[in-house]
Amino acid sequence: MMADGTLTPVLMDVDTGVDDAMALALAWAAPQIELVGVTTVAGNVTLDQATTNTLRVLNTIGATDLPVYRGMSRPLVRDHFDAAHFHGNDGLGGALFPDRERSVEAMTAPEFIVQSARNYQGSLTLCFVGPLTNLAVALSLEPDLPDMVDHVVVMGGAFQMPGNATATAEFNIAVDPEAAEQVARSALAVVWIGLDVTHSTNLYREDWDLIDDSATGGPKVVREVCRQAFEARFADLMHLHDPLAVGVLQDPSLIVGVDLPVTVDTSVRQTAGTTRMMLDESTHTNQLVAVEVDAARFRELFGSVLGIPLSDRE
Ligand code: BDR
Ligand code: CA
Repeated sequence: MMADGTLTPVLMDVDTGVDDAMALALAWAAPQIELVGVTTVAGNVTLDQATTNTLRVLNTIGATDLPVYRGMSRPLVRDHFDAAHFHGNDGLGGALFPDRERSVEAMTAPEFIVQSARNYQGSLTLCFVGPLTNLAVALSLEPDLPDMVDHVVVMGGAFQMPGNATATAEFNIAVDPEAAEQVARSALAVVWIGLDVTHSTNLYREDWDLIDDSATGGPKVVREVCRQAFEARFADLMHLHDPLAVGVLQDPSLIVGVDLPVTVDTSVRQTAGTTRMMLDESTHTNQLVAVEVDAARFRELFGSVLGIPLSDRE
């Protein structure tokens, strides 16, 4: 919510896999957020699959008129690698969502990001929960973008803990380290929501068991996209990476952040995509790296905004 009581305009960029789907459902249901559009990128799955998944999720939650823009089909300079081993070959764990006749907009994602920033005259917040390729391209189209948006919330990075794509790098950054580095070096005000905090925010099997099979809308999205993980892979929990970024949009006090410059390893070594905070207080920075999260309060928000019951487990 903005200071004057109006809704916060938010543009979401997604590579729709399991947790992106839950993040979209959460953002759509959030009473403080006005979603202005959704942009897609290659990440968890190919761009085509991510775009199809996004449309299916939006159809399921009733966001049938929310415009969707296709973005970059590959990282800036590297070959794309996906995370189908985790999200399932279709990215949504095989969830059967309605595939209504519906098309994407003609404009590209980076163009829409720039156009929206202009339209909203400084009040737009960007939320990136996939590789940062579209944002890097938008920055090259409009170098003044940092002055034109309020801030950017990024799900990405592993600052003080191991990575999940490689030993040291988190997936979204590992897929396109060059894009992440351009974002980190820009004057954009960025809140980094990395594994340091998302690994404390979980949907447990006990929570998932409480959602009815006949649920519709957001609860149906949560129920169906997690089915493969809980039923076929016997997972005990799912990290709520991307939903936490949306939670922070709604309530920034959920996290404690450190205001330090961020660097991204763009080498060709195994460490590519590693994110670090630089202990350099002389450098002015607009970056905030989340180092703590009130996981219990986020769980409460996640359950209440989506209207799903949660177990007592924490
Ligand atoms: C991030 O990587 C993707 O697999 C998830 O959707 C999330 O955005 C977590 O590292
Ligand atoms: Ca994602």
